[in-house]
Amino acid sequence: MISVAIDGPAGAGKSTVAKLAANELGFTYIDTGALYRAIGQACIDRGVDVTKPEDVLKILPGTDIRLILKDGGQRVILNGRDVSDEIRTERASMTASVVSAIPGVRSFLLDLQRSFAKSADVIMDGRDIGTVVLPDADVKIFLTASSESRAERRTRQLAAKGIEADYNEVLSDIIKRDYNDSHRDTAPLKPAEDSIIVDTTELTLKQSIKRVIDIIRDKL
Ligand code: DC
Repeated sequence: MISVAIDGPAGAGKSTVAKLAANELGFTYIDTGALYRAIGQACIDRGVDVTKPEDVLKILPGTDIRLILKDGGQRVILNGRDVSDEIRTERASMTASVVSAIPGVRSFLLDLQRSFAKSADVIMDGRDIGTVVLPDADVKIFLTASSESRAERRTRQLAAKGIEADYNEVLSDIIKRDYNDSHRDTAPLKPAEDSIIVDTTELTLKQSIKRVIDIIRDKL
């Protein structure tokens, strides 16, 4: 099985780039952020205070998360309910960022993530895929962009969905999430030593995808 790890901060275009590259190369695309979002959603549903790790850990045994892969995308099923859309709100993003800092949450999701790479050729996107989940991945890419360009893209994406968002608020959320993701003790966001860094600040989506596909083809 071939595995490609694509890590990087929120909003660098990882999921779009990874999904399209996977389609082009015939690989299965796995968005691991969705798993953390699903745990965040489970906490929201059950009124759990995510600043209390012990309360979050208590609900894990009763939390069943499945990914259904179809049409090159994935649906996230939480305890039998499709939560793919609701895990994309700003509230769910922040909650996911908080729960993802809890070591017990990370170990809960580790085997699940590794099992995907055992059964298919995958492009997996996340924060710690190249460093922790698949340290032996065949290709490791760290996709990044300036926080301002990530906030601009995110504001535009939300507007396209009819959600009016304030650029400055989106930017401050991105900076806060970057800080949380890169300063936690367990599996912080950082490039693997053997990763190739792709900065998409000055690249169009098409150029970013081409660059990623070229890197993968080159390495395989
Ligand atoms: O990629 P995303 O924005 O959907 O991820 C949601 C949150 O989950 C984000 O704050 C970082 C965290 N995450 C993580 O800690 N490790 C991963 N492999 C993927 C996501």
